[in-house]
Amino acid sequence: MNQKIIDTLSHLTYGIYILTSKQGDENHGMIASWVSQVSHEPPLVMVAIRKNRRMHPVVKSAGAFALHVLEQKEKQLIRQFKLPTPAERFHGLECITLETGCPIIKQALAFMECRLVATYDTGDHTLFIGEVLAADCSKEGRPMTGWDYGKVYLGDS
Ligand SMILES: Cc1cc2nc3c(=O)[nH]c(=O)nc-3n(C[C@H](O)[C@H](O)[C@H](O)COP(=O)(O)O)c2cc1C
Repeated sequence: MNQKIIDTLSHLTYGIYILTSKQGDENHGMIASWVSQVSHEPPLVMVAIRKNRRMHPVVKSAGAFALHVLEQKEKQLIRQFKLPTPAERFHGLECITLETGCPIIKQALAFMECRLVATYDTGDHTLFIGEVLAADCSKEGRPMTGWDYGKVYLGDS
């Protein structure tokens, strides 16, 4: 890809989210920023997951995922979800489960629990589209954006 395209893509603005799902008894989670609402009725959201992520087959087989909005200054959760293993990423976190069984991280600012309704193959990522079954945003705070995080995910590795 030419540098001008890369530089221009880095001007797109995103939020920073934690995506979670479940395989058997094991909780999985990763940081994701390619996230968007894609329908009002029914309420649908999408997350783009690179095909080499551990999460990719997990969301497919679970048929569900949860997205967590983080508070603007929530650096600890970001650090934790960069750790190598699923167990380390969830260590010490209080989670609840609702209809799908995906872990909902209690300390997040807001969450959406989604049932997978479609996937689209889009180059080196797959779009996972989920219908929002449950959501909560009752805590006070401002959502973390890419500007707060300080870097833009370009999807290149
Ligand atoms: C700020 C940020 C945003 C990210 N956004 C995405 C994304 O939208 N999709 C994706 O596939 N990976 C994204 N990643 C990369 C994954 O979070 C990271 O590579 C992943 O945790 C590796 O997980 P694995 O070792 O479980 O496969 C992002 C990483 C960071 C730091």
